[in-house]
Amino acid sequence: MTTHSWPALAVPIVAAPMAGGPSTPQLVHAAAGAGGLGFLAAGYKTVTQLEAQIAETRTLGTERFGVNLFVPEPHTPPMDAVLTYRGHLAPIYTRLGISTPTPHDDDDAFAAKVQLVLEHRVPVVSFTFGLPQQEIVEQLHRNGTAVAVTVTTPDEARAALALGIDALVVQGPEAGGHRATFHVADQPTNTPLTELLGTVLALPELERDGAVIAAGGIHSAHQVRELLRLGAAAVQVGTALLRAPEAGTKPVHADALVSQQYAQTVVTRAFSGRPARGLRNAFIDEFDAAAPAAYPEVNQLTAPIRAAALDDASVQAMWAGTGHAWTQARPAAEIIAELAGPR
Ligand SMILES: Cc1cc2nc3c(=O)[nH]c(=O)nc-3n(C[C@H](O)[C@H](O)[C@H](O)COP(=O)(O)O)c2cc1C
Repeated sequence: MTTHSWPALAVPIVAAPMAGGPSTPQLVHAAAGAGGLGFLAAGYKTVTQLEAQIAETRTLGTERFGVNLFVPEPHTPPMDAVLTYRGHLAPIYTRLGISTPTPHDDDDAFAAKVQLVLEHRVPVVSFTFGLPQQEIVEQLHRNGTAVAVTVTTPDEARAALALGIDALVVQGPEAGGHRATFHVADQPTNTPLTELLGTVLALPELERDGAVIAAGGIHSAHQVRELLRLGAAAVQVGTALLRAPEAGTKPVHADALVSQQYAQTVVTRAFSGRPARGLRNAFIDEFDAAAPAAYPEVNQLTAPIRAAALDDASVQAMWAGTGHAWTQARPAAEIIAELAGPR
């Protein structure tokens, strides 16, 4: 086995990277302490913030952890549609006293974050929203880093495997947060996780030692057992950990996960321009139909609204998978142990 291959886990549970606050060094540390693997989420952070979180994770005593990076897609934004959408949002800017945001180029400092994970020899790096260049995979491998790519279709899985990566994170439509689709304009498929997983596991391109990690809507030990029986090496859970005290989830989001008022999840582009599953609220009801497929431009238009109304569930992006009603406010290690079942 090469030094960069997917790590063998005592407990086959991965704490998903969750950008926007929920993923913290404390959550990563708790997941590792429970025998699983935790991820820091680099998305939206500055390089300095990410560096501080890597350092803090190590200070807590966790050496084996992952960092997740958003892959930018070179694109020409549909500016007319973006500006029309901004017009729809104008009454909210006025109500909250926000100056009108201007959409701009932003690649989430991808190259600098890649340099950072190389410099800090982060043991596992996963990519979402697309493929890293082959050269990046090779640099990470030379560093002893295991590389994973999140995929939502068999075609994406094939393309990722062609890069010689160590693990695929197969994300089903039940997943909370952004669909990892490679192209902003792609409509995500609705093939349920178990079916998608079966198709990916049957791909001839999947070498014997390539690990497949299943994600999306996982909230019970029964589901975990079933996914492992189908052939997943591990499962990745996000929503199930959102109410753990170690997670940095905003209180309004943590409460809404188990509120009757927000019982339904929907996939929407209203907040970021990319499809993402979250708790249905007034913002989605009002703006979903008008939202263009434009990332990160739409995100830039809505971020100031979310920042200005932190306690207002009607305008927050409360990402959640289909299993959100089962989330528990318990230490992450207990949640992970329960999901793993008796061992
Ligand atoms: C609040 C939230 C933020 C997320 N942020 C990221 C992210 O930064 N990177 C990523 O690859 N996936 C992200 N995801 C998706 C997860 O990696 C994973 O696919 C998903 O949580 C699995 O579904 P579940 O939430 O039903 O467990 C996020 C999910 C949630 C709920």
